[in-house]
Amino acid sequence: MHLDYNNPITWLEHRYDCDVQARNASIEEKLLSFFKPHESVLHITDVGSGTGTNVCYYFDKLLNHQQEWTLIERHDPLLQAARERLKKFADKRGYLWDEQSDQVQLVDNDKRATIRFVTGDVNHIETLTDLEKADVLVANAFFDLISFDQFDALVKKLAQHNVAFLSTLNYYETSFYPFLEEDHQIMRWYHMHMKRPQPFGIAMGADCCEEMLDLLTKHHLMIEQESSQWHLKRGSTTMQHYILHFIENALVELNLTTDEQKLLNRWLNTRKEQLHDRTLEIIVDHNDIFATE
Ligand SMILES: C[S@@+](CC[C@H](N)C(=O)[O-])C[C@H]1O[C@@H](n2cnc3c(N)ncnc32)[C@H](O)[C@@H]1O
Repeated sequence: MHLDYNNPITWLEHRYDCDVQARNASIEEKLLSFFKPHESVLHITDVGSGTGTNVCYYFDKLLNHQQEWTLIERHDPLLQAARERLKKFADKRGYLWDEQSDQVQLVDNDKRATIRFVTGDVNHIETLTDLEKADVLVANAFFDLISFDQFDALVKKLAQHNVAFLSTLNYYETSFYPFLEEDHQIMRWYHMHMKRPQPFGIAMGADCCEEMLDLLTKHHLMIEQESSQWHLKRGSTTMQHYILHFIENALVELNLTTDEQKLLNRWLNTRKEQLHDRTLEIIVDHNDIFATE
Protein backbone atom coordinates (compact mmCIF):
# COMPACT_ATOMS: atom_id res chain seq x y z
CA MET A 1 0.00 0.00 0.00
CA HIS A 2 1.35 3.46 -0.86
CA LEU A 3 0.70 6.07 1.78
CA ASP A 4 2.24 9.53 1.68
CA TYR A 5 3.21 9.71 5.34
CA ASN A 6 4.63 13.20 4.94
CA ASN A 7 1.37 14.75 3.80
CA PRO A 8 -0.60 15.99 6.82
CA ILE A 9 -3.67 16.62 4.65
CA THR A 10 -4.14 12.96 3.72
CA TRP A 11 -3.33 11.86 7.29
CA LEU A 12 -6.10 14.11 8.65
CA GLU A 13 -8.47 12.78 5.98
CA HIS A 14 -7.68 9.19 6.97
CA ARG A 15 -8.15 9.75 10.69
CA TYR A 16 -11.48 11.58 10.29
CA ASP A 17 -13.74 8.49 10.32
CA CYS A 18 -11.94 7.00 13.32
CA ASP A 19 -12.38 10.27 15.18
CA VAL A 20 -16.07 10.39 14.29
CA GLN A 21 -16.57 6.91 15.73
CA ALA A 22 -14.49 7.69 18.80
CA ARG A 23 -15.94 11.07 19.78
CA ASN A 24 -17.77 10.61 23.05
CA ALA A 25 -21.55 10.95 22.61
CA SER A 26 -22.21 12.00 26.18
CA ILE A 27 -19.67 14.86 26.08
CA GLU A 28 -21.10 15.94 22.74
CA GLU A 29 -24.60 15.96 24.23
CA LYS A 30 -23.33 18.16 27.10
CA LEU A 31 -22.03 20.68 24.56
CA LEU A 32 -25.19 20.63 22.46
CA SER A 33 -27.55 20.96 25.40
CA PHE A 34 -25.41 23.70 26.98
CA PHE A 35 -25.84 25.80 23.84
CA LYS A 36 -29.43 24.82 23.05
CA PRO A 37 -30.93 27.91 24.73
CA HIS A 38 -28.37 30.17 22.99
CA GLU A 39 -30.44 32.23 20.57
CA SER A 40 -27.95 34.62 19.00
CA VAL A 41 -25.15 33.64 16.63
CA LEU A 42 -22.86 30.99 18.14
CA HIS A 43 -19.23 32.10 17.96
CA ILE A 44 -16.89 29.12 17.79
CA THR A 45 -13.10 29.28 17.69
CA ASP A 46 -11.33 26.12 16.55
CA VAL A 47 -7.63 25.91 17.45
CA GLY A 48 -5.24 23.64 15.54
CA SER A 49 -8.13 23.39 13.09
CA GLY A 50 -6.18 21.48 10.42
CA THR A 51 -8.37 20.97 7.36
CA GLY A 52 -11.67 21.98 8.98
CA THR A 53 -12.66 18.71 10.65
CA ASN A 54 -14.69 20.34 13.41
CA VAL A 55 -16.80 22.44 11.03
CA CYS A 56 -17.67 19.33 8.99
CA TYR A 57 -18.52 17.48 12.16
CA TYR A 58 -20.60 20.11 14.00
CA PHE A 59 -22.29 22.14 11.24
CA ASP A 60 -25.22 19.71 10.99
CA LYS A 61 -25.28 18.87 14.70
CA LEU A 62 -25.73 22.47 15.82
CA LEU A 63 -29.33 22.32 14.72
CA ASN A 64 -30.81 25.76 14.96
CA HIS A 65 -27.72 27.81 15.31
CA GLN A 66 -26.34 30.52 13.10
CA GLN A 67 -22.62 29.87 13.43
CA GLU A 68 -19.54 32.03 13.18
CA TRP A 69 -16.39 29.95 13.05
CA THR A 70 -12.78 31.14 13.34
CA LEU A 71 -10.33 28.44 12.30
CA ILE A 72 -6.87 29.02 13.78
CA GLU A 73 -4.09 26.94 12.32
CA ARG A 74 -0.38 27.66 12.21
CA HIS A 75 0.28 25.69 9.02
CA ASP A 76 -1.13 27.82 6.19
CA PRO A 77 -1.47 25.06 3.51
CA LEU A 78 -3.88 23.25 5.83
CA LEU A 79 -6.20 26.25 5.86
CA GLN A 80 -6.13 26.29 2.07
CA ALA A 81 -7.00 22.58 2.14
CA ALA A 82 -9.77 23.37 4.66
CA ARG A 83 -11.44 25.72 2.15
CA GLU A 84 -11.34 23.05 -0.54
CA ARG A 85 -12.61 20.38 1.80
CA LEU A 86 -15.48 22.53 3.07
CA LYS A 87 -16.46 23.38 -0.52
CA LYS A 88 -16.66 19.64 -1.27
CA PHE A 89 -18.63 19.11 1.96
CA ALA A 90 -21.12 21.82 0.85
CA ASP A 91 -21.43 20.37 -2.69
CA LYS A 92 -21.99 16.84 -1.39
CA ARG A 93 -24.82 17.93 0.87
CA GLY A 94 -26.32 20.43 -1.54
CA TYR A 95 -25.59 23.43 0.71
CA LEU A 96 -25.04 26.90 -0.71
CA TRP A 97 -21.44 28.06 -0.75
CA ASP A 98 -20.33 31.67 -0.96
CA GLU A 99 -16.60 32.33 -1.04
CA GLN A 100 -14.86 35.64 -0.30
CA SER A 101 -11.16 36.30 0.18
CA ASP A 102 -11.06 36.13 3.98
CA GLN A 103 -14.14 34.05 4.73
CA VAL A 104 -16.70 31.63 3.32
CA GLN A 105 -20.37 31.04 4.03
CA LEU A 106 -22.09 27.71 4.18
CA VAL A 107 -25.89 27.84 4.00
CA ASP A 108 -28.42 25.09 4.60
CA ASN A 109 -31.95 26.56 4.34
CA ASP A 110 -32.25 28.89 7.37
CA LYS A 111 -28.93 27.89 8.84
CA ARG A 112 -25.74 29.70 7.96
CA ALA A 113 -22.11 29.35 9.03
CA THR A 114 -19.59 32.09 8.38
CA ILE A 115 -16.09 30.64 8.47
CA ARG A 116 -12.90 32.71 8.81
CA PHE A 117 -9.48 31.17 8.20
CA VAL A 118 -6.67 32.59 10.32
CA THR A 119 -3.05 31.52 10.09
CA GLY A 120 -1.40 31.81 13.49
CA ASP A 121 -0.31 30.26 16.73
CA VAL A 122 -2.59 29.50 19.66
CA ASN A 123 -0.19 31.53 21.84
CA HIS A 124 -1.56 34.69 20.22
CA ILE A 125 -5.20 33.68 20.29
CA GLU A 126 -6.38 37.04 21.57
CA THR A 127 -5.05 38.73 18.42
CA LEU A 128 -6.48 36.06 16.08
CA THR A 129 -10.07 35.87 17.31
CA ASP A 130 -12.37 38.10 19.33
CA LEU A 131 -12.43 36.38 22.72
CA GLU A 132 -14.94 38.94 23.92
CA LYS A 133 -17.46 37.51 21.42
CA ALA A 134 -16.35 33.85 21.51
CA ASP A 135 -18.82 31.41 23.10
CA VAL A 136 -16.78 28.23 22.87
CA LEU A 137 -13.27 27.15 21.98
CA VAL A 138 -13.07 23.75 20.32
CA ALA A 139 -10.07 21.60 19.43
CA ASN A 140 -9.67 18.08 18.10
CA ALA A 141 -6.45 16.07 18.52
CA PHE A 142 -4.53 19.17 19.49
CA PHE A 143 -3.53 19.58 23.11
CA ASP A 144 -0.91 16.83 23.24
CA LEU A 145 1.07 19.08 20.88
CA ILE A 146 1.41 22.12 23.13
CA SER A 147 3.04 22.65 26.52
CA PHE A 148 1.56 22.89 29.98
CA ASP A 149 2.53 26.60 30.11
CA GLN A 150 0.89 27.30 26.75
CA PHE A 151 -2.26 25.56 27.93
CA ASP A 152 -2.20 27.45 31.24
CA ALA A 153 -1.96 30.78 29.41
CA LEU A 154 -4.79 29.77 27.06
CA VAL A 155 -7.14 28.69 29.85
CA LYS A 156 -6.49 31.96 31.73
CA LYS A 157 -7.63 33.88 28.64
CA LEU A 158 -10.70 31.68 28.20
CA ALA A 159 -11.65 32.04 31.87
CA GLN A 160 -11.24 35.85 31.71
CA HIS A 161 -13.70 35.98 28.81
CA ASN A 162 -16.02 33.23 30.02
CA VAL A 163 -15.47 31.05 26.94
CA ALA A 164 -16.60 27.41 27.18
CA PHE A 165 -14.09 24.71 26.25
CA LEU A 166 -14.44 21.49 24.27
CA SER A 167 -11.43 19.35 23.50
CA THR A 168 -11.89 15.99 21.80
CA LEU A 169 -9.46 13.14 21.07
CA ASN A 170 -6.90 14.12 23.71
CA TYR A 171 -4.22 11.42 23.40
CA TYR A 172 -3.58 9.13 26.34
CA GLU A 173 -1.99 5.79 25.35
CA THR A 174 -1.64 3.11 22.67
CA SER A 175 -1.95 -0.66 23.21
CA PHE A 176 -1.27 -3.53 20.83
CA TYR A 177 -2.86 -6.98 20.60
CA PRO A 178 -1.54 -9.64 20.79
CA PHE A 179 0.70 -8.30 23.57
CA LEU A 180 4.46 -8.39 23.16
CA GLU A 181 6.96 -8.15 25.95
CA GLU A 182 8.60 -5.13 24.29
CA ASP A 183 5.38 -3.07 24.00
CA HIS A 184 5.92 -1.29 27.28
CA GLN A 185 9.45 -0.19 26.38
CA ILE A 186 8.44 0.94 22.89
CA MET A 187 5.59 3.04 24.27
CA ARG A 188 7.87 4.52 26.93
CA TRP A 189 10.23 5.69 24.17
CA TYR A 190 7.36 6.91 21.99
CA HIS A 191 5.95 9.00 24.82
CA MET A 192 9.45 10.29 25.65
CA HIS A 193 9.75 11.46 22.05
CA MET A 194 6.49 13.42 22.40
CA LYS A 195 8.17 15.25 25.27
CA ARG A 196 11.42 16.06 23.44
CA PRO A 197 12.57 19.69 23.72
CA GLN A 198 10.96 21.85 21.01
CA PRO A 199 11.21 25.60 20.31
CA PHE A 200 8.07 26.30 22.38
CA GLY A 201 9.12 24.03 25.29
CA ILE A 202 8.00 20.48 26.11
CA ALA A 203 4.66 19.28 24.72
CA MET A 204 2.18 17.73 27.15
CA GLY A 205 2.18 14.61 24.97
CA ALA A 206 0.59 11.57 26.58
CA ASP A 207 0.16 13.52 29.86
CA CYS A 208 -2.17 16.01 28.23
CA CYS A 209 -5.42 14.60 29.66
CA GLU A 210 -4.13 14.66 33.22
CA GLU A 211 -2.45 18.04 32.92
CA MET A 212 -5.46 19.63 31.23
CA LEU A 213 -7.81 18.38 33.94
CA ASP A 214 -5.47 19.76 36.64
CA LEU A 215 -5.30 23.15 35.00
CA LEU A 216 -9.00 23.42 34.23
CA THR A 217 -9.68 22.56 37.88
CA LYS A 218 -7.16 25.18 39.00
CA HIS A 219 -9.14 27.75 37.00
CA HIS A 220 -12.34 26.63 38.81
CA LEU A 221 -14.12 25.37 35.71
CA MET A 222 -16.85 22.73 35.80
CA ILE A 223 -15.46 19.74 33.95
CA GLU A 224 -16.96 16.73 32.22
CA GLN A 225 -14.69 14.09 30.74
CA GLU A 226 -15.22 10.73 29.05
CA SER A 227 -13.15 8.40 26.95
CA SER A 228 -12.93 8.46 23.15
CA GLN A 229 -11.13 5.40 21.90
CA TRP A 230 -9.92 4.31 18.49
CA HIS A 231 -10.29 0.59 18.09
CA LEU A 232 -8.25 -0.31 15.01
CA LYS A 233 -9.47 -3.85 14.46
CA ARG A 234 -7.72 -6.56 12.47
CA GLY A 235 -7.58 -5.44 8.87
CA SER A 236 -7.70 -1.66 9.62
CA THR A 237 -4.47 -1.60 7.71
CA THR A 238 -4.27 2.05 6.65
CA MET A 239 -4.46 3.46 10.16
CA GLN A 240 -2.23 0.70 11.52
CA HIS A 241 0.40 1.50 8.86
CA TYR A 242 0.32 5.15 9.93
CA ILE A 243 0.74 4.30 13.61
CA LEU A 244 3.68 1.96 13.06
CA HIS A 245 5.25 4.56 10.77
CA PHE A 246 4.82 7.37 13.34
CA ILE A 247 6.43 5.20 16.04
CA GLU A 248 9.33 4.17 13.80
CA ASN A 249 9.98 7.76 12.71
CA ALA A 250 9.80 9.12 16.23
CA LEU A 251 12.14 6.55 17.74
CA VAL A 252 14.77 7.10 15.04
CA GLU A 253 15.19 10.60 16.51
CA LEU A 254 15.96 9.28 19.98
CA ASN A 255 19.56 8.15 19.37
CA LEU A 256 18.92 4.64 20.67
CA THR A 257 21.90 2.41 21.47
CA THR A 258 22.64 -0.52 19.14
CA ASP A 259 20.89 -2.96 21.48
CA GLU A 260 17.88 -0.69 21.83
CA GLN A 261 17.74 -0.28 18.05
CA LYS A 262 17.76 -4.08 17.70
CA LEU A 263 14.87 -4.36 20.13
CA LEU A 264 12.95 -1.73 18.16
CA ASN A 265 13.63 -3.48 14.83
CA ARG A 266 12.53 -6.82 16.23
CA TRP A 267 9.33 -5.29 17.53
CA LEU A 268 8.62 -3.44 14.28
CA ASN A 269 9.22 -6.55 12.17
CA THR A 270 6.81 -8.59 14.27
CA ARG A 271 4.16 -5.86 14.24
CA LYS A 272 4.50 -5.36 10.46
CA GLU A 273 4.13 -9.11 9.88
CA GLN A 274 1.00 -9.14 12.06
CA LEU A 275 -0.35 -6.16 10.16
CA HIS A 276 0.30 -7.93 6.88
CA ASP A 277 -1.37 -11.13 8.19
CA ARG A 278 -4.28 -9.08 9.54
CA THR A 279 -3.80 -10.36 13.08
CA LEU A 280 -2.89 -6.99 14.63
CA GLU A 281 -5.25 -4.84 16.68
CA ILE A 282 -4.39 -1.41 18.02
CA ILE A 283 -6.29 0.52 20.66
CA VAL A 284 -5.57 4.21 20.99
CA ASP A 285 -7.01 5.77 24.13
CA HIS A 286 -8.04 9.41 24.27
CA ASN A 287 -10.49 11.45 26.27
CA ASP A 288 -12.95 14.24 25.47
CA ILE A 289 -13.35 17.18 27.85
CA PHE A 290 -16.07 19.81 28.10
CA ALA A 291 -15.54 22.63 30.59
CA THR A 292 -17.56 25.70 31.48
CA GLU A 293 -17.55 28.41 34.19
C1 LIG B 1 -3.37 16.41 14.83
S1 LIG B 1 -3.72 17.84 13.94
C2 LIG B 1 -5.48 17.97 14.18
C3 LIG B 1 -6.13 18.84 13.14
C4 LIG B 1 -7.66 18.94 13.23
N1 LIG B 1 -8.08 19.48 14.48
C5 LIG B 1 -8.28 17.58 13.00
O1 LIG B 1 -8.80 16.99 13.94
O2 LIG B 1 -8.26 17.12 11.86
C6 LIG B 1 -3.11 19.16 14.96
C7 LIG B 1 -3.07 20.52 14.24
O3 LIG B 1 -2.63 21.53 15.14
C8 LIG B 1 -1.79 22.44 14.44
N2 LIG B 1 -0.95 23.11 15.45
C9 LIG B 1 0.02 22.55 16.21
N3 LIG B 1 0.52 23.43 17.08
C10 LIG B 1 -0.17 24.59 16.88
C11 LIG B 1 -0.13 25.86 17.50
N4 LIG B 1 0.74 26.12 18.49
N5 LIG B 1 -0.99 26.82 17.09
C12 LIG B 1 -1.88 26.55 16.09
N6 LIG B 1 -1.96 25.36 15.45
C13 LIG B 1 -1.11 24.39 15.84
C14 LIG B 1 -1.02 21.54 13.48
O4 LIG B 1 -0.48 22.27 12.39
C15 LIG B 1 -2.10 20.54 13.06
O5 LIG B 1 -2.80 20.96 11.93
